[in-house]
Amino acid sequence: MDSAQVIPRHQTAIARQHLSKPIALAMADGVLSANSTLFDYGCGRGGDVARLQAMGYTAHGWDPGHSPNAERHAADVVNLGYVINVIEDPTERAQTLASAWALARQVLVVAARPDWEARTVTGRRHGDGIITKRGTFQKFYSQAELRDWINVQLRTDCIAAAPGVFYVFRQDSDAQTFLASRTRHRPAPASRPRRRQALYDVHREDMDALAAFIARRGRVPDPEEIAGTASRLLGAFPSLKQAAALLRDVTGSQDWDRDLTRARHQAERDLLAYLALAAFRGRPKASDLPKGVALDVRTLFGSYRAACSQADELLHAIADQKALNNACSRSDIGKLTADALYVHATAIQLLDPLLRVYEGCARTLTGTVTECTIIKFSRIMAKVSYLSYPNFDKAPHPVLATSLRADLRKLSVKYTDFRSSTNPPVLHRKEAFVPLDYPGRDKFARLTKQEERAGLLQEPVTIGTQTGWEQRLQERGYRLAGHRIVRITTAPAPEVFQ
Ligand SMILES: C[S@@+](CC[C@H](N)C(=O)[O-])C[C@H]1O[C@@H](n2cnc3c(N)ncnc32)[C@H](O)[C@@H]1O
Repeated sequence: MDSAQVIPRHQTAIARQHLSKPIALAMADGVLSANSTLFDYGCGRGGDVARLQAMGYTAHGWDPGHSPNAERHAADVVNLGYVINVIEDPTERAQTLASAWALARQVLVVAARPDWEARTVTGRRHGDGIITKRGTFQKFYSQAELRDWINVQLRTDCIAAAPGVFYVFRQDSDAQTFLASRTRHRPAPASRPRRRQALYDVHREDMDALAAFIARRGRVPDPEEIAGTASRLLGAFPSLKQAAALLRDVTGSQDWDRDLTRARHQAERDLLAYLALAAFRGRPKASDLPKGVALDVRTLFGSYRAACSQADELLHAIADQKALNNACSRSDIGKLTADALYVHATAIQLLDPLLRVYEGCARTLTGTVTECTIIKFSRIMAKVSYLSYPNFDKAPHPVLATSLRADLRKLSVKYTDFRSSTNPPVLHRKEAFVPLDYPGRDKFARLTKQEERAGLLQEPVTIGTQTGWEQRLQERGYRLAGHRIVRITTAPAPEVFQ
């Protein structure tokens, strides 16, 4: 049977209300920037292209079903979004991947439906996928299968961007730049300038951009690294170092020096995590390091050799479950239980470098799990889970929606959906998961104190799931009102007169 004529592939294209996941991710990751061009290979109804154009991007697309006459041309970024999974013929699938790759000047973004979505689709088997009720074909990929297939077909090493989404970079230096940026922390706001200074005020925006760079990287940038900002500042200062000296002056030398020490320490940890993880792809030679990373290495470690040897120590330690367990129990961030450490996603960059590398290894398998709220580090097995609690901030006791668990020994990924569970896990003591400056942390802590006083948190095993927790509240005569507990008042029984 010539199934291509029978299977209406074009019907798989949906009318998108938002940017698709791979495009949104590429933007968030800086892989698709405002000055890069995009080609959407198999663009369906063209929702991504139209949205990007409206945002000012140079974006075009082609689709054999919806816009067959559009020109296929090269671009910096090529998106092959949810196309390969609708092609029933494995040879054509591979050809499509190769054709899209041939057009990608910098990076190809490949997305396909993950295997856990197969549970939600019924159909009859066809080749290595299924024919759905609508008569279209779908192949669902495990994360490892998709990664290996891309690597074999394109003879490269792709990078997991997220579950079901991979980046294939043309130049290894671009891949390294992306990987280094992924391990970089997002700095807390630095101290504000205290003294007024005319020169600072005139260049406030550029000075703040310079301060932000220093807070992120723990060093003064090379002019090329902040090109526009640098060219304006260098019109007023002999060097960026001198501009930074003025920043120190207006901020107050004590605050500035404290912030700089903190930033350097954090940047060192970022770099170690990157270099440890880079070993899995084969660490680049010193001469092949992206320029910014080479400068980080020189400023923070003196030499590449010194940095790599520290990163190697970390790598050896993550193979040692005892060392991981120790790092979990030592952690001053997160909630420690008998078998795991739980940390809010916003606190990840504050963790011990060993745990960051451990998590980085898991992320090599899964990519970024955008919906993740809490990361669970197993103390017993080499497993990291990305847990999603969509209502974490608002709900006093958030309910677990989904979990994506990376098994670092088996190199596999397992997805569990709790959304239709009748008794899903719930969280208590929310303040324990988050960093000290997390919005609402005091409110979370006040609730915990109230609940402790009311004896609601004893025997935590039974209250760990929704039913047990609701039962506990009822038994003790309480209900929740936002982040407070209140007594359930039963109306007095009416008096009966005989
Ligand atoms: C699920 S849709 C995805 C569309 C779009 N990328 C998106 O994310 O909204 C799959 C699309 O792949 C297109 N397609 C099918 N075979 C193709 C091929 N060999 N090359 C390129 N696109 C193909 C179909 O016409 C369909 O529009």
